Amino acid sequence: MHPVEDGAERSVPVHVAIIMDGNGRWAKRRGLPRIAGHRRGADALRVTVEAAAELGIRHLTLFGFSSENWGRPSGEVEELMGLLRMYLRAHIAELHANNVRLTVIGARDRLPGDVVDLIAGAERQTAGNSRLHLQVALSYGARDEIVAAARSLAADVAAGTLAVDQIDAARLADRLQTRGVPDPDLVIRTSGEQRLSNFLLWQAAYAELVFVDTLWPDFKKRDLDDAIREYQQRERRFGVATG
Ligand code: IPE
Ligand code: IPE
Ligand code: MG
Repeated sequence: MHPVEDGAERSVPVHVAIIMDGNGRWAKRRGLPRIAGHRRGADALRVTVEAAAELGIRHLTLFGFSSENWGRPSGEVEELMGLLRMYLRAHIAELHANNVRLTVIGARDRLPGDVVDLIAGAERQTAGNSRLHLQVALSYGARDEIVAAARSLAADVAAGTLAVDQIDAARLADRLQTRGVPDPDLVIRTSGEQRLSNFLLWQAAYAELVFVDTLWPDFKKRDLDDAIREYQQRERRFGVATG
């Protein structure tokens, strides 16, 4: 059954963000190395992007690698960078053909140089696409992002081009890497963990949170449908009493 698409309360979320967790456990259960889980995770990512486009979701943000994940064993980090490199080389043409616009948020100066070039090329190539905006968070940490926004505002104040009392939520949001992208309506985390792990802390202020036990490599279109149905049953109040 597909999520209901009629009526304001039951509308498909405009922006869905997913914390793709559980690759390591998926592999461990099968007696495989962690990288095998990450590879299957990349397959789940492709399926999810297509499913999101079919559902009419406009923005899909996927948490692929956190600023804290740099602290993992160097072998795993290298394998993840290799997988990212392969994914970008192999699938950008497909994203472009499907009218998907790709952008990346996070500290890209920490990524390998050739990966940075691949990302920049993909962003340029897909900039005019309009079916789905795929925003991938790589080397991303929400606290770093907010600190950078604060510094940028502070620099303007120091330069005399911004007054302290002109700083408000809208101006801060405008200095985040997600500027111009509506806040996520729905944040999904797989693998049963119930935390945000430094993901979109500012932007998810009023997101509905859905935690599913499915490990990311097993995530299917059906799981996305289920999460959206759950979202459609929530009553979003934004702090304003109703009824
Ligand atoms: C998510 O899977 C992918 C990344 C964080 C890169 P994990 O690698 O965190 O898998 P688990 O949580 O150990 O199962
Ligand atoms: C969050 O998952 C980051 C990504 C899914 C990319 P982690 O597996 O790194 O988070 P923790 O360590 O369980 O909080
Ligand atoms: Mg994990």
